[in-house]
Amino acid sequence: MKGLILAAGRGTRLRPLTHTRPKPVIRVAGRPIIHYAVENLLEAGVEEIGVVVSPETGKDIQEALAGYPVRYVLQEEPQGLAHAVAVARGFLGDSPFVLYLGDNLFQKGIRPFLEAFRQGVSAVIALVRVEDPRQFGVAVLEGKRIVRLLEKPKDPPSDLAVAGVYVFTPEVLEVIQDLKPSARGEYEITDAIQGLIDRGLEVVGVEVEGWWKDTGRPRDLLDANRLLLEELLPKVEGEVEGSALTGRVVVAPGARVVGSTVIGPAFIGEGAVVEGAYIGPFTSLGPGARVMRSEVEYSILEDYAVLEDVALRLQESILGVGAKVQSRHGLPRAHRLILGDLSQVELA
Ligand code: TTP
Repeated sequence: MKGLILAAGRGTRLRPLTHTRPKPVIRVAGRPIIHYAVENLLEAGVEEIGVVVSPETGKDIQEALAGYPVRYVLQEEPQGLAHAVAVARGFLGDSPFVLYLGDNLFQKGIRPFLEAFRQGVSAVIALVRVEDPRQFGVAVLEGKRIVRLLEKPKDPPSDLAVAGVYVFTPEVLEVIQDLKPSARGEYEITDAIQGLIDRGLEVVGVEVEGWWKDTGRPRDLLDANRLLLEELLPKVEGEVEGSALTGRVVVAPGARVVGSTVIGPAFIGEGAVVEGAYIGPFTSLGPGARVMRSEVEYSILEDYAVLEDVALRLQESILGVGAKVQSRHGLPRAHRLILGDLSQVELA
């Protein structure tokens, strides 16, 4: 069994964060999203892992996965999930494989999908019950067997949406060879699965255990951060001085918390500095981030982001690498903003 993680997307819904870095390297609860995918595959016994990257994402993904035993496959253009599988044909050979979307998080891992696959079926699709299935691929089931897949149906026949893990026999590669691009110009994995069904092959759905999160939009990132922090094991390795730490808090090595209040769950990354500050629940600070004389909760500060002397508490915020939010001294009393393309600011 091989594993194939897809990490060659454009991440348009997460701009401006994804202008400079690919989505799977953004940190949630202190770790790049893609780490969780690799860990889940390894934990399920899948040791030969390929990661599909684009010319733009390759370097950052390789840096984030340094030390992990993975191979890289280049997809020149993000022409769809089925296209990404096709370009990995050389890596996959004639092995069955787990296809894992690199921006998806599964609380309880992927073992149940592999177990179902061992019953001798052609494909296993992870399914999840959602409130509004109209924005997902939706499965029509007879028993466990999927008899039809509908892409973003207006009138969904079930509330079972397709999540981002699939297990396939190499038969799917043959189906993909004959695929035509969809109306949006992509080679769709749902069409490939429908192709398996149309050939009379057995495709089964297995419901995800625990929570599942697709980190496509900013609010999903914050929610994923919250869900992962809910499971945080407290550990203080950095320096804490004159501060109150309540609940589950991680202070990573080299971090400093001075004269501050931290209410967990919260993650303070390596070398981060928190001084005269309040860090509220569901906040993660990346390596080298700084929060000085300011308050923040339910937020993510990426590596070396800075929050300094800001009077009003920051909430539901994501600061990208090296982003700075500071107060302005002197006159005129005005906001001064230098924002990249598609940045978002809400002023109270
Ligand atoms: P998507 O969420 O469909 O696309 P995206 O990540 O580019 O985001 P957006 O819609 O905001 O532009 O992709 C799911 C995962 O699959 C993601 O990790 C990127 C990856 N992917 C590829 O590797 N190759 C592709 O051709 C596509 C479309 C996605």
